[in-house]
Amino acid sequence: MEKFKVLITEHIAEPGIELLKKQPDVEVTYDPELFRNFDRILEIIPEYHALITRSGTPVTEELLERGKKLKVVGRAGVGVDNIDLEAASRRGILVVNAPTGNTLAATEHTMGMMLAAARLIPYAHKSLKEERKWERKKFMGVELAGKTLGIIGFGRIGSRVGIRAKAFDMKVIAYDPYIKKEKAERLGVELVDELEELLRRSDIITVHTPLTEETRNMITKREIEKMKDGVILLNIARGGIINEKDLYEALVSGKVRAAAVDVFSKEPSTDNILLDAPNIVVTPHIGANTFESQTNVAVIIANQVLAALRGEEVEFA
Ligand code: MLT
Repeated sequence: MEKFKVLITEHIAEPGIELLKKQPDVEVTYDPELFRNFDRILEIIPEYHALITRSGTPVTEELLERGKKLKVVGRAGVGVDNIDLEAASRRGILVVNAPTGNTLAATEHTMGMMLAAARLIPYAHKSLKEERKWERKKFMGVELAGKTLGIIGFGRIGSRVGIRAKAFDMKVIAYDPYIKKEKAERLGVELVDELEELLRRSDIITVHTPLTEETRNMITKREIEKMKDGVILLNIARGGIINEKDLYEALVSGKVRAAAVDVFSKEPSTDNILLDAPNIVVTPHIGANTFESQTNVAVIIANQVLAALRGEEVEFA
């Protein structure tokens, strides 16, 4: 019997790999650095029945076309914006993800980034640790308590950020045309009908939507102009939702007091314009990087891919 060949091109947690390896009908190739060598992926993909990636592997039409045996692409995480979904569907290749596995990791990273930006913690840390300076006056922040947090996208992560923000005594408002008012109300969150209202009323704004044609450049200079002076902006969702050049300019002018960004329009990104902006806290797309969430995601995606290969039912988010 021909075994199902599974190619994993990025780092995923051991329990997921072990789960796949112990299946008698599966053969696994685990090469976590392969995403850096797209040509090599193109070369070997024709042998494989399944491909498992994170966000670093561009699953393009060309790759899918070469993957003549491909039955399923598994995304070990939530966002499927690195996968050409239309091209996959045209070829009958299933795309599955692990949408619930890293919710808490992303939520907690958002809270950490919010505090870090509000108090400029990384700047104070650098000043003391690397520059050996004792600069108490320089690092004046703002408190979260009493401020209005505007959450754009009130799904799994956005709603959990809302619950935590309320524990910090923040007033929480949200904009999400796809959820019911009652869901927000149950959590003590006011759902606003227009994005513009959220932009106008919030002291801190955080985005938690996927990257789609609808959300790309959702926040540009135009939207930033409508915000309060001294607003704090967070993007722990996807690069490209907030226009990077416009955010850079708003940080330079002081319209935006501070920002926190975990995701970039092009990744890996070590020369993004935002890295030169003042008052910005940046991390290299580590929102989902906790031991707990990576274990969850790896096991979920392994099970999803196995189900798809064996023609069993898969769960779609
Ligand atoms: C996700 O979409 O799940 C996160 O951004 C984390 C990741 O890319 O692995």
